[in-house]
Amino acid sequence: MRRKLIAGNWKMNMTPSEALELIEKLEGLVKNDEVDVCYCVPAIDIVPAVEAVKGSNVAIGAQNLYFEEKGAYTGEISAAMLTDAGVKYVIMGHSERRGYFGETDEDINKKLVKALEHKLIPIVCCGESLEQRQQGLTLSLIRDQIRTAFNGVSAADAADVVIAYEPIWAIGTGVTATSEQAEEVCADIRRYIAELYDEATAENIRILYGGSMNAQNAAELLSMADIDGGLIGGASLKTDFGSIVNYNK
Ligand code: 13P
Repeated sequence: MRRKLIAGNWKMNMTPSEALELIEKLEGLVKNDEVDVCYCVPAIDIVPAVEAVKGSNVAIGAQNLYFEEKGAYTGEISAAMLTDAGVKYVIMGHSERRGYFGETDEDINKKLVKALEHKLIPIVCCGESLEQRQQGLTLSLIRDQIRTAFNGVSAADAADVVIAYEPIWAIGTGVTATSEQAEEVCADIRRYIAELYDEATAENIRILYGGSMNAQNAAELLSMADIDGGLIGGASLKTDFGSIVNYNK
């Protein structure tokens, strides 16, 4: 039985002091023994955030990492830095990083391998644009993204990875994929993992939906058979996040 994961992606929001205020505000609202909860915070917030969630059910995630071990890569953050700081999850391949910063499927593959080597739990994002959906390319595009990202990753490692399906047209737009649209893609991702690996790996891997998930639509999306959680942007910065975590109450 896969445990649900409700992950906030704070994106480029919250200064360190604002982060501490938000963590405090959400503290009593995000308790749910049945789900894993994580805040993927800006890099500069990681150290104070890890300290602030100590002893709670909340884990801290990063929004990016660099795939080299260490060295002359000004401005980048390594997997070892993240684990040493107490980070548990790391997002890679978010459509904003693909779109604004030119992150490729090959980069994501290198990041995935490096994160797994350091026992971080990767959250690998994939998703199509509206144009690609209208052209009927969604499933083949996402299969391509997944195939390249997982290149060289063993079945044992793959089972620990989290995949987030985030249709670009649903991110920050207020337009959520219907639960049927989201389920169709998440189910196909699981089928594809079974093809690439095996049934057991496909059964274990967690697949999240992201894109305008909120307190109103979370329960329905999370009731779908292949949706194992959410990656939440805007609503993770508000007390609504507590309602999403407690979608089953
Ligand atoms: P919104 O929830 O703001 O649409 O963002 C989704 C997202 O991109 C999470 O990574």
